[in-house]
Amino acid sequence: MIDKCGRKINYLRISVTDRCNFRCRYCMPVEGVKALRHEEILSFEEILRFVEAVAPLGIEKVRVTGGEPLVRKGMVEFISALSSIEGISDISMTTNGSLFKEVSHDLKKAGLKRVNFSLDTLNPEKFSYITRWGKLKDVWEGIEEALRLGFNPVKINTVVARGFNDDEVEDFAKLTVEYPVVIRFIELMPLGDGGWTKGRFISAQDIKARIKSELLKVNNIEGNGPAEYFQLKNAKGVIGFITPISRHFCESCNRVRLTADGKLKPCLASSAELDVKGLMRSGAGIAEIKEVYKEALSIKPYGHNMSYDKNDEGRNLKRKMWQIGG
Ligand code: GTP
Ligand code: 5AD
Ligand code: SF4
Repeated sequence: MIDKCGRKINYLRISVTDRCNFRCRYCMPVEGVKALRHEEILSFEEILRFVEAVAPLGIEKVRVTGGEPLVRKGMVEFISALSSIEGISDISMTTNGSLFKEVSHDLKKAGLKRVNFSLDTLNPEKFSYITRWGKLKDVWEGIEEALRLGFNPVKINTVVARGFNDDEVEDFAKLTVEYPVVIRFIELMPLGDGGWTKGRFISAQDIKARIKSELLKVNNIEGNGPAEYFQLKNAKGVIGFITPISRHFCESCNRVRLTADGKLKPCLASSAELDVKGLMRSGAGIAEIKEVYKEALSIKPYGHNMSYDKNDEGRNLKRKMWQIGG
């Protein structure tokens, strides 16, 4: 479907859980967050029914997110069921990678096509620090396995935070010389629960300035992501910059989001949401699900103004990143 701003909406991001096995410092407090109870989250059957309803309305791509999606049991079967829905041609996942290697082969077989890994540092001690206990080795082995199995493209999301990893930008960029990965530097958004805020923010322009080697512009690559892409000379991989704060990309936004507790969110940076779970649990059929989806598109905002201003809606969302899934 085309929304009122002329944007073709063909991409659904599904957060399958708000739980995570890490506590990244910009995302969650160390004690964690009050996780939803089992009955509060959509069952896989409910999610599949929703996707079946919206696929005929133009949803072709589905990204599975979290929290950490792989902490939810039954992911392989879920991916397999998703890929058998008519019209769904692209299934992807955003993961912290720590549990990926073990299930990678089964996920591939089930129909998962693309994987985005979150990785903020290449230093094992700093990795344990930022995630609070994670092991870099687990994630790196997951990434190598993804490459070996032919997931394409394999993207690495690196949130850049002042005083934490801004000294590693060039090292991350240089990874693309040896590995055919897409490294994407992401501006820190004010959507975390860990207390990392304005003082940690670095704009993409400043991140780019930390790369001393020449960057050659490349056209957008597979995935419809919100990034702008470049390449180092003779590199196998690509470097991208995601700029939710310094340069909005709302005019080309193609997505809607379904939260783990069954709310349909037309925009990451707005608190507006519609209740899909309540509707389905009150016995609604496919036609009513389609109506609520159309309503979500009709209230999808023209754009957002997410900033570190304390009065800004984008900063004061009732949901944080771990509940939205990015
Ligand atoms: P593909 O293009 O399909 O690979 O996915 P993606 O880049 O959208 O997904 P991913 O989950 O890897 O997200 C990367 C970063 O982009 C995260 O920090 C997201 O929060 C951010 N992001 C994704 N979609 C949006 C959006 O609609 N608005 C804003 N402001 N940020 C977004
Ligand atoms: N700002 C920017 N990106 C974030 N992510 C999580 N929290 C934030 C934040 N506050 C990223 C994760 C993951 C993606 C889904 O969102 O690192 O790669
Ligand atoms: Fe978990 Fe991702 Fe949040 Fe880290 S950023 S705590 S991996 S949800």
